[in-house]
Amino acid sequence: MHHFDVQSTLDHLCKPSLVQLQSNLFAAKFDLMKIVPARYIVEQALKSGELKPDGLVVESSSGTFALGLAQTCATLGLKLTLKTGYLEPIVEWRLRHLGAHIDTVTNAAGNLREIQEQRFALVRKTLEEVPGSFWTRQHDNPQHPAAYEPISRSIGESLGKVDILVATVGSGGSLCGFAKPLREANPELKVIAVDHNMSAIFGLTTGRAYPLCEENWLSMLGMGSDIVFPNVCHQACDEVHWVPIAQMINTVHDLHRTTGLFVGPTSGAALSVANWMARQYPACRVLAVLPDHGIRYMDTIFNPNWLNKNTEELQRTWSEPELCQSPTEVAGEWTYFPWQRRSYEEVFGHAITHRERRGK
Ligand SMILES: Cc1ncc(COP(=O)(O)O)c(C=O)c1O
Repeated sequence: MHHFDVQSTLDHLCKPSLVQLQSNLFAAKFDLMKIVPARYIVEQALKSGELKPDGLVVESSSGTFALGLAQTCATLGLKLTLKTGYLEPIVEWRLRHLGAHIDTVTNAAGNLREIQEQRFALVRKTLEEVPGSFWTRQHDNPQHPAAYEPISRSIGESLGKVDILVATVGSGGSLCGFAKPLREANPELKVIAVDHNMSAIFGLTTGRAYPLCEENWLSMLGMGSDIVFPNVCHQACDEVHWVPIAQMINTVHDLHRTTGLFVGPTSGAALSVANWMARQYPACRVLAVLPDHGIRYMDTIFNPNWLNKNTEELQRTWSEPELCQSPTEVAGEWTYFPWQRRSYEEVFGHAITHRERRGK
């Protein structure tokens, strides 16, 4: 058994590369963004004594947060149990290889929201039954956005000034954590949230789902959500963009073809919008957050068979987004809405509505 330097390897995994893509366009490029909050929450709990070194870490996640936790717990020698939905084979292999215990709620359990609720019920059961168990609570733990603040502050300092921040939204942790220090340094900072149109985060849309969205969102999209979680800071957002899947993929392919940078589809979503912003506002410095590496998508957006099957949709292109009068009108195109730093209730005149739909 090798003994590696734990803090140094975790520091490495948590550090994004700051890449200048154009004169006014920069990217904070992560291999796995969510290891940042996973490590921070676990280390804070160890420090406060809420989690003991022989305790059990518990979370409901099937994607990047699960992987971030598994890397953190394996490195620190902690036990981890995950309550998951569908897992991609590569993610499942890595989670098990990192020693995580996995309880999966199958799709037979009902609609996607019911599946999520059942996973939370399993988390609560473990907390009751296992003494010393600790729930990281990525969806409402304020330490989740807070974990990104030092990284964001340091990027802001090295760039001098950031005028526009573009990031995708799922749990809301990264957008809100990046936005806070950048807006403290520059109150005029424009915060641009990026989502897809089957998500409930910025309102339920009536338009048809983006092609490739329904059948691929579990395997391809960490952004978007059927449940609007408390860590989404609606009032930080100046503008919301809904980006078609084909646009995300084409941007990812363009980036790879022209630079060799190899990122996932949600990075393509953020970059599509950031690119457009950089063109619209040449005097402004734009920062895009790119959440993960492309390796996880070898069965989809980097798979020749999958790409051949979807050629027709992937030939569609958008040079700019369409402005919509209300988020409920978002149709099948790249669309944006001036959210203007309002709460969800202020925009819609009613409380948050989650989405109900069946799992696959
Ligand atoms: C690949 C990927 N991109 C973007 C996001 C959205 O990030 P956040 O949860 O910080 O809003 C996630 C969230 O899980 C993700 O896995």
